[in-house]
Amino acid sequence: MEKIWKGRINKDTNSNVEKFTSSLNVDKSLYMYDVMGTIAHVAGLKKIGIITDNELKKISKGLKEVTKKIKSEEILVSDQYEDIHSLIEYELEKVIGELAKKIHTGRSRNDQIVLDEKLFAKDAIINTIDKVLSLQENIIKIAQKEIDIIIPAYTHMQKAQPVLLSHYLLSFFEKFNRNVRSLFRNFEDCDYLPLGAAACTGSGYELDRKLLKKLLKFKNTDSNSMDIVGNRDFIMDFIYSLSKIMLNLSRFCEDLIMFNTNEFSFIEIDEAFCTGSSIMPQKKNPDILELIRGKSSLIIGSLMQSMILMKGLPSTYNRDLQEDKKIMFGAYQETIDSIEIFSQLLKKIKFNKARIKESLSRGFLEATDIADYLVKKGESFRKSYNIVGKIVKNCVDNNISFGDLTIEELKNYSSYFSSDIYEMVKIESCISNRKVDCGTSKKNVLEKIESGKKIVNKLYSKQKRLFEQIPELNFLFNLHKTI
Ligand code: ARG
Repeated sequence: MEKIWKGRINKDTNSNVEKFTSSLNVDKSLYMYDVMGTIAHVAGLKKIGIITDNELKKISKGLKEVTKKIKSEEILVSDQYEDIHSLIEYELEKVIGELAKKIHTGRSRNDQIVLDEKLFAKDAIINTIDKVLSLQENIIKIAQKEIDIIIPAYTHMQKAQPVLLSHYLLSFFEKFNRNVRSLFRNFEDCDYLPLGAAACTGSGYELDRKLLKKLLKFKNTDSNSMDIVGNRDFIMDFIYSLSKIMLNLSRFCEDLIMFNTNEFSFIEIDEAFCTGSSIMPQKKNPDILELIRGKSSLIIGSLMQSMILMKGLPSTYNRDLQEDKKIMFGAYQETIDSIEIFSQLLKKIKFNKARIKESLSRGFLEATDIADYLVKKGESFRKSYNIVGKIVKNCVDNNISFGDLTIEELKNYSSYFSSDIYEMVKIESCISNRKVDCGTSKKNVLEKIESGKKIVNKLYSKQKRLFEQIPELNFLFNLHKTI
């Protein structure tokens, strides 16, 4: 088959070169976006008189036919086509004949591919937002259900202070919230029409870009043709967001893997989400969590790949850019899969309340609150800190806990101690003492659960509105009737 770029090249392409340069296996998944862009472009050509009404109609019908064939896999994806753009042009020719040769007037694969990738990214971002929001919903549900569980909070992997399990869970709600916000920003950055740039200096035809923008539902138009064909910022930004999601998931997984160890035994992972060992019959491994932690390295690697691909590229289009799709598609798919399975696993986690409670009694989690107690009675914080340090040391040396000390013994450390101390340093009091609005008091956490629900609903509505900025294939197929 003659190449669409045959032009000045006289020799047949070496068959290894065909294989090596073909991107069809990867970019075939862009076919819908390529068809959308083609119809809009042809409608643009009609508007400036390059194509007649009747021709637009024939091309639209032909493209509909080709799309059907690709969907039903009637068209074999093979090395005979270099990429999705040439596949569509040749297959269209099979359906409508010579007329198909007109569709490439005033455009280039260089601007075509940016369009396809932006349309793909817009869809992918909407879907990613959906998945993260659903995970956030699950987090809120668990936080609400388990509102009375108190766990130790850790810093440096050492017991620090008591905290509501729900407060801990909501810390991840916040992280994912930031991720959703950056995905919305990514969408905005994708929302610039690239068509019209052609190869690199702008189309030789005065295309009505406002019309193209409207048909393809972009909010803005990109403004410099040389920038347009070499711009992949929107891909790097999207993968950066995916990396941050995976990073947060990975940290969440790491916590859960630790809580699931025999030593902690804070949680139990549903057996349907565990795997066994081929040799040790007693094992129930948290492989899903480990895999997500492992996969996060792939996504972060993809971010690096996408940046390294760009670094040092000369201006405008270079064939290196063909490799960007593999990177983006892989990162997107792995992230979506990870969020989904993690969300399902999380829903089914059981919390071992007895074991968690037991862990609260060791580790002097109330130490900060004892110091705060003395401060409230009139002592300076630094002195209080030293007093409590001495008490803890004494308890450790004698293998007793704070509650074992009598009020007389405590008074030997500070005259500020009185019998209300025992009530003040109960684990529950340590929780309610954290009244600051980012703290773990139950009142505050319950408020955060309610506001979290509202945030998720609001973001879902915002996400639904993004669909208005996604073109519809059927509308475009019937464009010749309205334009
Ligand atoms: N397949 C290419 C890509 O994915 C687009 C085609 C541009 N090729 C070219 N030789 N100008 O980037």
